[in-house]
Amino acid sequence: MHSRSRRRTTKYFSHLEFKMLLRAGSGGYEQPFKSSACLGRTKASMTRLPTPHQPVLPEDCLKLLDPRPGYFYFDGTIGTGAHSRLILESAPGSIVFGFDRDADALRIAESNLSEFESRVILHHDDFKNWRHYEMPDRPFGGCLLDLGFSSVQIESSGRGFSFSRDEPLDMRMDIRHGRTGADILNELPAHELVRIFQEYGEVPFSRRLAAEIVARRGRRSFARTADFLEAIFTVAHPHRWHHPATLPFMALRIAVNGELDGLDVFLRDVAAAVTISGRVVVISFHSLEDRIVKHTFRSLAPRGSEFTILTKKPIVAGDEERANNPRSRSAKLRALRRDPRCSNCMLPRRNDEVH
Ligand SMILES: C[S@@+](CC[C@H](N)C(=O)[O-])C[C@H]1O[C@@H](n2cnc3c(N)ncnc32)[C@H](O)[C@@H]1O
Repeated sequence: MHSRSRRRTTKYFSHLEFKMLLRAGSGGYEQPFKSSACLGRTKASMTRLPTPHQPVLPEDCLKLLDPRPGYFYFDGTIGTGAHSRLILESAPGSIVFGFDRDADALRIAESNLSEFESRVILHHDDFKNWRHYEMPDRPFGGCLLDLGFSSVQIESSGRGFSFSRDEPLDMRMDIRHGRTGADILNELPAHELVRIFQEYGEVPFSRRLAAEIVARRGRRSFARTADFLEAIFTVAHPHRWHHPATLPFMALRIAVNGELDGLDVFLRDVAAAVTISGRVVVISFHSLEDRIVKHTFRSLAPRGSEFTILTKKPIVAGDEERANNPRSRSAKLRALRRDPRCSNCMLPRRNDEVH
């Protein structure tokens, strides 16, 4: 009995088997993205090219953000600049303050939005650090967050965001600091790894995966996506919907980037910095993220408060967008509006509440 279970946990895949599993990863589960113009290019040439990128939920986003001419807008996750472009085009004279943790993303945004010149001010940092920067002396017309990571990061960052490519297991959006995915797998105690897989990924085989990682790193350190994938395949249950690596990779990425940390504090802070009838619009791709947004908006908008939730239920992509843009499939959009504090001085109600 003992020897049988031992044999099971130390199973190694042959080179051919492993190649086939990798191929199954890219073809069967992790959908290829449409905007693949950068694939196969060097990083330098990639960042010179304006990248075609499909913004998620563009119409709903624009309707709910309702950009107004001459106002300042905060785009905390500017990525390729596709959402910011919608703001800049629809609101003449508006100015976007754009943040991104990823220097490559910022270079692409800068190139894609070059025609707007001085109307775009970019900062290479976590949007949660926005208070460290000089900000306008007037309230923002609105704030947009399109959380998570971009198709460009998956396709061509070379930083191990995708299990369908054998790359260094870095996973940091900002490579200037922090632990890489490989560092976490090599350094954290087993119980911490279990917590990461359970909390951020609801991985059904979290304990076995953590034990497998600890056993493997005693022999050889984790360095590449293939090392992590091999550990996952050794312990994973087959799953009907997910590739077995989807949830562990997502959980590790969230841990590497501290993606959920301080989101609630930021939302409260920025909501207080938008003007009357200004909006906070958040697109999330993970249930924990969406839960934080939902609860923070609810706590900001009890009856009679100065905020109104514009999305009683989160807005999700329709069939057409889901078919054309696989990233949109797990997107949930929520929006909050700031109203006058005085309950007697009601603003004329805009016809934009979505139920
Ligand atoms: C989903 S993409 C945004 C796409 C963007 N809306 C567009 O139109 O191209 C998310 C981007 O946000 C960045 N990001 C994620 N979390 C961040 C954070 N806490 N602070 C700053 N940037 C962040 C990622 O590096 C990535 O470029």
